[in-house]
Amino acid sequence: MTAHETVRVELGPRSYDIVVGDDVLAIAGEMMAPVLRRPRVVVVTDTHVADLHLETLLRSLSDSAIDAEPIVLEAGEQTKEIGHFGKLMEAILALDIDRDVALVALGGGVIGDLTGFTAATALRGIDFIQVPTTLLAQVDSSVGGKTGINSPQGKNLIGAFHQPRLVLADSRVLRTLSRREMLAGYAEMVKYGLIGDTAFFGWLEGHGADLVDGDPDHIRRAVVACCRAKAAIVAADEREGGVRALLNLGHTFGHALEAETGFSNTLLHGEAVAIGMVMAFDLSARLGLCPPDDAARVRRHLAAVGLPTGTNFTNSVLWDPSRLMMHMGRDKKVKGGALTFILVRGIGDAFVSRDVPAEEVSAFLEGAVAA
Ligand code: GLY
Repeated sequence: MTAHETVRVELGPRSYDIVVGDDVLAIAGEMMAPVLRRPRVVVVTDTHVADLHLETLLRSLSDSAIDAEPIVLEAGEQTKEIGHFGKLMEAILALDIDRDVALVALGGGVIGDLTGFTAATALRGIDFIQVPTTLLAQVDSSVGGKTGINSPQGKNLIGAFHQPRLVLADSRVLRTLSRREMLAGYAEMVKYGLIGDTAFFGWLEGHGADLVDGDPDHIRRAVVACCRAKAAIVAADEREGGVRALLNLGHTFGHALEAETGFSNTLLHGEAVAIGMVMAFDLSARLGLCPPDDAARVRRHLAAVGLPTGTNFTNSVLWDPSRLMMHMGRDKKVKGGALTFILVRGIGDAFVSRDVPAEEVSAFLEGAVAA
């Protein structure tokens, strides 16, 4: 593999590149210059990422004669609350921007979603560039244009589809992640194999442990594979009318688990997705749709790399199936009152189902929570 690999997201006039590779951050200015309407950006980041990577990015922008004004926010999910969004918007408008200025999101999913939504709404829409610094953001949230913030009613209920102009995924920045964060991102990687690529899942079974340990070649190769898969799905269904929903494998259950743990550090999003994917396989097996051996294989792999695979990941929560059902009923994936699940016929063969009877799900959860 060359030092950088480019994946194109084909969306007509809104097409853009995802550049994956070592040291992309150090040449970010050079890469951004051709997509900027004029050489001025506002960089949005958080305190944690700023300490690690802001200087490198600013130096690179300055080397390319791009004016950059940084805005450093508090780190954490609370930064996606409406109040924080309001303050960020005011801070950006106070810089006297015009519609040719672009925002740059330097950070993980929170910074990417918030900055993207701010770009979607500032001056009725300005450009933005994603510089994802977590594995999860590199393989999922920075690609595809879903942007949003949280409201007291739930996560990401306020948002917009607004595609970035460019995504720069620097593999080296992942070295600063904790093992837990690597694993949370890894769960989203496994998702691509489970949705539609049995061979990729097999490759992960062989190389996933090394990847999580930081093997740079494996990381780059797998990030490129995931971005390719996501680019193809987004190109086919930008606004989630069909196939894009498959990216929600594990998310209906996962969202309920996260809601019950207060979207806190008790359970990271990627960890919830890992458990949710095991549940989606187990429910599919229970419904006779998927071989039980495939469900067991998924559980085995996730457990082998160190991801949680069931509600027994913690004994600090008293799991109640009816509360999980309640959270699932509030999920934004509910359509006309029907729960939407991504179910599977096996590894690499996911499909959307809107006709699983609530009693089946309830009975399944009784067993899953007791296990
Ligand atoms: N994270 C799911 C999607 O982008 O559709």
